[in-house]
Amino acid sequence: MSTVNTLGVIGAGQMGGGIAQIAATAGINAILFDAHTPQLGKAKALHEKLMARAVEKGRMEQADADAALKRIDYNESFDALSGADWIVEAIIEDRDVKVDLFGRLAAMFADRQDVVLASNTSSISITEIAAAAGDAAHRVVGMHFFNPVPVMKLVEVIKGLQTDQSVVDRTIALSERMGKTPLAANDRPGFVSNRILMPMINEAFYAWMEGVAEPEALDGIMTLGMNHPMGPLRLADFIGLDTCAHIMNVLADGLHSERYRPCPLLEQLVAAGRLGNKTGHGVFDYSK
Ligand code: CAA
Ligand code: NAD
Repeated sequence: MSTVNTLGVIGAGQMGGGIAQIAATAGINAILFDAHTPQLGKAKALHEKLMARAVEKGRMEQADADAALKRIDYNESFDALSGADWIVEAIIEDRDVKVDLFGRLAAMFADRQDVVLASNTSSISITEIAAAAGDAAHRVVGMHFFNPVPVMKLVEVIKGLQTDQSVVDRTIALSERMGKTPLAANDRPGFVSNRILMPMINEAFYAWMEGVAEPEALDGIMTLGMNHPMGPLRLADFIGLDTCAHIMNVLADGLHSERYRPCPLLEQLVAAGRLGNKTGHGVFDYSK
């Protein structure tokens, strides 16, 4: 199998930006595409800031940081992705939008059997996404990075019903090349990570809604008492409240249980556009 030279990353948000960054620092070229052009400028500015910090802290030579930044092509054109030899999709956590995208990717790479089409989905069935890729279904895999991508060591690797074992093996190898520790999970709603994490976060919204405690106290109890690096409400803001609500709905639908539906208070914040860090306000206010 050919070595991956160029990673196509779709979605330049929190996750896609991080994935392009770690590819570039691992010596892999990245084509970063987003349907919303301003996101590309934001990702570039963040990359420059994080690389400058890495140099300042002595974790990286200036020349290596410069070379890594040059490896990222911030591109407004979907067609530019045809220059990639591996795709990682990191767009909104919406089944229909991902299904549409994988249909287009399968058409783009119909004649390039070596190209893997990976999804960074948090919860959506890889088997269902793969089905949208038709003849390319065996090359679709879950490659689930964690936020913040440059810091978190894990990649959860998910094999859909149609995924070739060789594609899983290559995903494990690429994750290791990008400095991560891959661990396998089966294709069930939320896989392992969000099957366990997200109901805890949702429960924190219920506890807040029912007046068990205010957000500061609730998070304080979970950080000081449980040694979690962040309380569940701050973590929800960090992930994105829209993403949390989408994941809960995938769990509820896929596990056939209403107990997984997003807490009404979580839904209300999303409806108000309070999505967390990425909009400057979620449970907590980050505008200052
Ligand atoms: N991008 C890149 N680097 C970042 C970063 C970001 N967004 N945020 C923090 N860092 C780096 C910092 O630069 C810092 O490194 P240096 O000081 O060497 O530069 C290092 O991480 C530690 O940061 P801080 O000192 O500012 O803060 P901290 O010690 O509190 O750590 C944290 C920050 C790593 C985010 C920590 O709070 C943490 O681990 N939080 C929990 C994160 C978590 O649970 N992530 C998983 C979310 S769920 C998910 O990803 C799956 C899903 O499908 C939803
Ligand atoms: P985000 O909202 O920060 O970014 C999503 C980006 O996708 C936006 O820039 C948006 O403009 C772009 N986009 C939306 N539809 C598109 C399309 N059709 N084509 C191209 N670009 C499109 O979201 P995020 O937090 O980066 O999450 C992205 C994916 O990664 C989701 O599937 C999410 O579940 C998953 N994920 C998120 C986290 C997390 O902690 N936030 C962790 C692991 C996995």
